[in-house]
Amino acid sequence: MQVVRTVQELRALSEAARAAGRRVALVPTMGALHDGHLALVALARRRADLVIVSIFVNPTQFGPSEDLASYPRTLDADLARCRAADVDVVFAPAAAELYPDGAQTFVEVAELAKPLCGASRPHFFRGVATVVTKLLAAARPHLAIFGEKDFQQLQVVRRLARDLLLGVEIVGAPIVREPDGLAMSSRNVYLDAAMRAEALALVGALDAAEAAALAGERSAAALLEQVRKEIGRAPHARLDYAELRHPDTLAECAAIDGPALLALAVRFPSPRAASGEVRLIDNRVLLRRHDAEGPPR
Ligand code: PAJ
Repeated sequence: MQVVRTVQELRALSEAARAAGRRVALVPTMGALHDGHLALVALARRRADLVIVSIFVNPTQFGPSEDLASYPRTLDADLARCRAADVDVVFAPAAAELYPDGAQTFVEVAELAKPLCGASRPHFFRGVATVVTKLLAAARPHLAIFGEKDFQQLQVVRRLARDLLLGVEIVGAPIVREPDGLAMSSRNVYLDAAMRAEALALVGALDAAEAAALAGERSAAALLEQVRKEIGRAPHARLDYAELRHPDTLAECAAIDGPALLALAVRFPSPRAASGEVRLIDNRVLLRRHDAEGPPR
């Protein structure tokens, strides 16, 4: 496994693979790797000949009061996990490599970035879209893999790749969960034992709404009421949002008549986090048509 720090080195490796007719996959991450990230790597391994993992805690997607400084950084452990997962190249640049002095160009996905996480974190998708565009430009992969854990992010990236004619296939991968159902996240380390237990309210809410939808409930208001009731069982949980939206357009649904994205963000108090709280997100596509990979297009 090679560890490279510069765009120039990364591009040389990718170009050599392309010239030899090998398929190149990129898995962008911010490190603190867990089994959710490794599932994306395994999918890349199946789909490509050269697997690149980027590890970069991207400053532009954090707000001023968010956890940039305290975000878990575990590079040695991450490299060991990548090696064990048969990754070919890890790209771990310094910030100045991706944001050269005087950088002033940003990528904005106008509509898809507005609702859900975009409403509570207004800077967030501009930072994500910008860094993902840079990573794609640096790695020049045939495909790039993103988790459905961050469903809106996946759709924002699909849109920007299409709009900017990047010629890269964006592949979605299913959410990986802990055995008790909690979605894996680098931010779960901020939860103490009591909040870790309360955090199961998120998956409980998704399960309850899914069961209701399967039993025939079609009203978004009724389904979201069910979600709020389940979140309410966790005494310290503060609901940031719970919404039902069309999986592709992210337009709001009043009633569901096909696949519908149920997306949640919930805050819990956390003395371990610099901001004093941890914000968890989770989602499920209700009434999903069962296709092998990614949401219906
Ligand atoms: P990060 O949170 O490290 O996540 C990297 C990738 O792993 C994302 O595509 C995310 O959706 C996926 N992922 C995280 N937890 C997952 C889980 N439990 N199951 C499946 N996939 C999971 O998302 C980012 O970093 C950044 O915004 C990034 C895209 C790297 C841009 O900076």
